[in-house]
Amino acid sequence: MIKNVGIIGAGTMGSGIAQVAATAGCSVKLYDTKTDALEKARTDLVKIMDRLVEKGKIIQEEKDRIQSNIQYVSSLKDLSNSDLTIEAIVENLDIKKNVFSTLEKFVGADCIIASNTSSLSIASIASSLQKPERCIGIHFFNPAPLMKLVEVIPSIQTSEETLNISVKTIKDWGKTVAVAKDTPGFIVNRVARPFYGEALRIYEEGIASVAEIDSAMKEIGNFRMGPFELMDFIGNDVNYTVTETVFEAFYYDPRYKPSFTQKRFAEAGYLGRKSGKGYYNYSENGQMSVG
Ligand code: NAI
Repeated sequence: MIKNVGIIGAGTMGSGIAQVAATAGCSVKLYDTKTDALEKARTDLVKIMDRLVEKGKIIQEEKDRIQSNIQYVSSLKDLSNSDLTIEAIVENLDIKKNVFSTLEKFVGADCIIASNTSSLSIASIASSLQKPERCIGIHFFNPAPLMKLVEVIPSIQTSEETLNISVKTIKDWGKTVAVAKDTPGFIVNRVARPFYGEALRIYEEGIASVAEIDSAMKEIGNFRMGPFELMDFIGNDVNYTVTETVFEAFYYDPRYKPSFTQKRFAEAGYLGRKSGKGYYNYSENGQMSVG
């Protein structure tokens, strides 16, 4: 029975996962090295909860209960009573391994240590632990509170017990689980690479504009968001890094070749919605306009 949940990284994904676990009744500690990220996560959650109350989706008491289930903490030690931790920090193997080996010193022997990585090897992350059998991939999609699917990724070191408890917990949180093998991009991010990659190539070859490609994919392809809108939503830094990781992990298979356009966007800080500029411009209230 998972009661106490520690989330590492209070960005887009960590704050969404914290909301999911808190809504399901868990006691959540949300940790980040940056106090402004914690503050943003706290104020964003209040806004989201207020909107849900306004729309009649939850009542005030539920809003208060969910909010009081989350504590915002700035020391990894504060996660020591966790039954489950889910890491959602920068997509960098060395940084993740470093956090995992430090975290293991603070948590109990039975704590499951999970990563929300989109593309990195769970076996590699697990190798940083004394007890790698407690490590697993639990991969939510953005926005975590709304997206039903969660991929659960056992590595070759993961124990049956860790897998069973993780699957049960995520189902108890109201999500649909797909168990996938520990391979680059798992299921969804692998299938999605050509969606972004071909769109970027069509744009780079001057065949159509960003807005035209998005519009075609929405109106004819029936996608909810076009590829550029979606890359801006995910974050061009995160999306580029995932493509780079999948490309390298598949021994440089050209099907997954990253795009220079996206690399330059990430380098320039044109990260998409979260920085106010990407393939489109975003106003304070989230309105999108052609960049
Ligand atoms: P983000 O950039 O929004 O947030 C990352 C947070 O981690 C930041 O607040 C940063 O201050 C914090 N952080 C960085 N290093 C840290 C450390 N050593 N200790 C504690 N906190 C640290 O990133 P986002 O988008 O939330 O992605 C996080 C993870 O989730 C990545 O592994 C990414 O691949 C994965 N992911 C992202 C999705 C997306 O659509 N953005 C979807 C599914 C998975």
